Amino acid sequence: MKALLINKYGGPEVLTLGEIPAPVAESGKILVQIKFAGINPVDFKIRKGMVFFLSGFKFPKILGGDIAGIVENQPEGSPYKSGDRVFAMLNFKGGGYAGYAAIPSEWLCKIPENVGFRDAAALPLAGLTALQSLKELGKIRTGVKVLINGASGGVGHLAVQIAKWYGAEVTAVCSGKNKDWVLSLGADNVVDYTEKDPMELTEQFDIVFDAVAKLPVLKAGKLLKEQGVYISTMPLPLIFIRQLLNVFSGKKFYAIMAKPSGKDLELLSNMMAGNALMPFVERVYALSQGKEAHQYIESERVRGKLVFDLNL
Ligand SMILES: NC(=O)c1ccc[n+]([C@@H]2O[C@H](COP(=O)([O-])OP(=O)(O)OC[C@H]3O[C@@H](n4cnc5c(N)ncnc54)[C@H](OP(=O)(O)O)[C@@H]3O)[C@@H](O)[C@H]2O)c1
Repeated sequence: MKALLINKYGGPEVLTLGEIPAPVAESGKILVQIKFAGINPVDFKIRKGMVFFLSGFKFPKILGGDIAGIVENQPEGSPYKSGDRVFAMLNFKGGGYAGYAAIPSEWLCKIPENVGFRDAAALPLAGLTALQSLKELGKIRTGVKVLINGASGGVGHLAVQIAKWYGAEVTAVCSGKNKDWVLSLGADNVVDYTEKDPMELTEQFDIVFDAVAKLPVLKAGKLLKEQGVYISTMPLPLIFIRQLLNVFSGKKFYAIMAKPSGKDLELLSNMMAGNALMPFVERVYALSQGKEAHQYIESERVRGKLVFDLNL
């Protein structure tokens, strides 16, 4: 199968298009023929060796934490059958930038009929990050006020839609060029961070979700109501230290570590089936354009998501 590989950590130039044997689906795993693979900032962080303690030193490595494709095999007792359209978030071991992946069935979910492979591949990692942050850590519910920082990015644009699905009032932070688009996703209010520092807002929120991890953690408490929750996508030591103090304080601080979960994907899948949630794909690349794709994701300027089309 074709695969976009790295043989060492480094810049975008270490990405190499190669041919390797397809994985074998052992111990009840499902073999999926990948149609589209999502691209996430964590992919360039793994490529650079920034999270080597999780990704290890075994090479070659196939990056990619998001896939959408077709089930090839049918293990005994599996809820999936050959030909099913499925999508999944993978773990730090990656494996998405390739023709096939062998995936534990509990990470998979069927793609709703109204959603194509391209959009399905754009959802899992960013969507699960937004859902697990807002639902598990933020305990989101109808009527709460939510501030989403980085509302135009992969995680943020899905967080806006998910928070609206829960009936929250959403204040979104993005730059002026993305303002109308973020409003069209359902945000109630928009703060243009190039004109106003979100830290200067006098309003307080039940949940502050820093999807791009750009707010100063030590000062972010001023944006929270007395029982408010701050969630960052960056697991910095400072947040873990502040998290230890949660038992002594009404205001809670957390860093999310998104987990693969077919069950959580099913909830997102139902939102998509009901037209309440849809990822926006800004650019589609061929695997041979891995270098360009990684340069763009590393720029932190993407609107919505980037994906690889395995048929290009
Ligand atoms: N811990 C976890 O489990 C987990 C999971 C997923 C993602 N993450 C991390 O979360 C971060 C965000 O991921 P992502 O996929 O959403 O990234 P992304 O799509 O690359 O984010 C790009 C977006 O961020 C906006 N942005 C850049 N600087 C900003 C600022 N100062 N204030 C507000 N918006 C700003 C950009 O808009 P403009 O061009 O308008 O500035 C752009 O639309 C990454 O660091 C990623 O590694 C962590």
